[in-house]
Amino acid sequence: MKKIIITGGAGYIGSHCVLSLVKNGYIPIILDNFSNSHPSIIKKMESISKKKIIFYKLDIKNKKKLELIFKQHKCQAVIHCAGYKSVNESNRIPIAYLENNIHSTLSLLECMKKNKVYKLIFSSSAAVYNQNQKLPWKETDQIGKTTNPYGTSKYIIERILMDIAKSDPKWIFKIARYFNPIGNHPSGLIGDNSKELPNNLLPYIVKVAQKKLPYLKVYGNNYNTRDGTCIRDFIHVMDLAEGHIAMLKNNQSKKGVEIYNFGTGKGSTVLEVIKAFEKETGIYIPFRYTKRREGDVPISLSSSNKAFKELFWKPKLKLNQAIIDIKATLNL
Ligand code: UD1
Repeated sequence: MKKIIITGGAGYIGSHCVLSLVKNGYIPIILDNFSNSHPSIIKKMESISKKKIIFYKLDIKNKKKLELIFKQHKCQAVIHCAGYKSVNESNRIPIAYLENNIHSTLSLLECMKKNKVYKLIFSSSAAVYNQNQKLPWKETDQIGKTTNPYGTSKYIIERILMDIAKSDPKWIFKIARYFNPIGNHPSGLIGDNSKELPNNLLPYIVKVAQKKLPYLKVYGNNYNTRDGTCIRDFIHVMDLAEGHIAMLKNNQSKKGVEIYNFGTGKGSTVLEVIKAFEKETGIYIPFRYTKRREGDVPISLSSSNKAFKELFWKPKLKLNQAIIDIKATLNL
């Protein structure tokens, strides 16, 4: 059996990857400090997967403890999902964001090298792309003009991986640039349970559906799009999790750094998402147009052809399925 260490394995993306790992015959070893997740998720993952899930409450900046775990569990690869992820918060406390995300990655890489584990899959983001370039965005397009410290931390880590890969040909780094992950496991037991207030569209729609917020603010209706609202490339988190398995299995080919976009290539406007949510749940979502949100691009779309061709990965689940799955977690 192949052990895979997964940092941030109790978080939104990480927990879905854990379930895909188990389903595909791997043994995930979760490292998480639960700073933005709940330990109760472990039991839920065990109940879904019918397997004991190994986890350690740990900040991966703690090199000594990290080292002990690497010694105890000889793993084949690491999936690195741990990191602060709120764009708003990153604007408020940039030093904490940059320090945490970069420092923890360096600590992990050092430990991997010491223990001769040379394969890492890194959770990056479409936030690294420069905004004013032709759509859809390809992996070779320009990056680095980030608009917030969260995106900057992802960009810097990507650059760090490139430098490290040059130092030793044994390294295999797969950078996964996520577009807009939504949805959850069909069991309805786990989902996006971040402790922090979300700034993303679907969690906000859910708050309105639950009557915890009176209405949704739609940021701008004068964009040059089919209905004036922004277009995003929403990808079901279960498809994204399978993308991580595809990167793990893709062992034979290249060493060094490979970057993969994970999106569907098809965009939905904010209004289309609201309508789809209303259709699938039967819940009316009141909204008001407000001014544009700073840093928003009119359209973000992924070209995922590289993942299709090299990883034989394809997204299978549509926006409406993501909403049906979200509905299941909420007892709406
Ligand atoms: C945001 C981040 C991006 C990050 C990603 C992680 C910004 C500018 N970008 O992407 O860096 O990688 O989250 O998932 O924050 N919207 C509303 N009302 C709301 C919330 C959102 O109208 O209450 C709109 C936004 O204006 C946007 C769309 O919904 O047009 C999607 O927003 P969101 O879910 O925050 O994702 P991104 O902005 O694409």
